[in-house]
Amino acid sequence: MDTFLIWAHRGASSLAPENTMAAFKAAEAAGAQGLELDVHLSRDGVPVVLHDETLERTTDGRGAVKRFRLRELQQLDAGSWYGPEFAGESLPTLSDVLSWAEDRMLINIEIKTASAATAVLELLADFPRARILVSSFNHRLLGKLAQLAPELALGVLVDSPFWRLALKRAVRCGARSLHPRQDLVSRAMMQACRRQGLAVYPWTVDDPGRLSTLLRMGADGVFTNDPGSTLAEAEALGEI
Ligand code: G3P
Ligand code: MG
Repeated sequence: MDTFLIWAHRGASSLAPENTMAAFKAAEAAGAQGLELDVHLSRDGVPVVLHDETLERTTDGRGAVKRFRLRELQQLDAGSWYGPEFAGESLPTLSDVLSWAEDRMLINIEIKTASAATAVLELLADFPRARILVSSFNHRLLGKLAQLAPELALGVLVDSPFWRLALKRAVRCGARSLHPRQDLVSRAMMQACRRQGLAVYPWTVDDPGRLSTLLRMGADGVFTNDPGSTLAEAEALGEI
């Protein structure tokens, strides 16, 4: 098989606050080949990296991300909630992460809000060396992206048992990969994806037993919060 890919989910989010530069740097240090990050849009149209629509869980701010301008979002502390040693860690822009990661790692940009798509595409033009995979649960949006940027690698996220429908959409938009919730993966899914030439990257896999099962089924990689341990387990299973 080709290289089994370890994608650091929101960076190495078991070691550092998710979706921060600290988490992305920890992912590289742990040996992950790729990083996954989530993108929303600031009020003034800048793609910013965090998971939730709102600020409460992972910053000291309150309210919807889209109501704040970039310079306001950049004042926030996105690290203290995780641990005092990360106090002052800022909420990165997508541009910050691409600048750092473009020559280091594969980058999976998960677009959380359709309104961010155009700004993301515009930004990608500034990073021609970056190895990008764009994914979304919004399959209609992926179809639109396929038309706007036919060369862009796309991944279709799946969190429902109706994966055959998602697979059809993936084929229709020329996606490279299916990203199913890990408990949805089955041999039937793997075979169907193989037939269509799609890679399969399940999320989120932190359990060694599950990793071993997914490897046996032929997964092409996994998203994990703990890339160092997952890499070591995959190596021990002889897959890397
Ligand atoms: O891209 C895989 C995974 O990140 C999807 O779910 O909620 O963690 O963004 P979520
Ligand atoms: Mg995500």
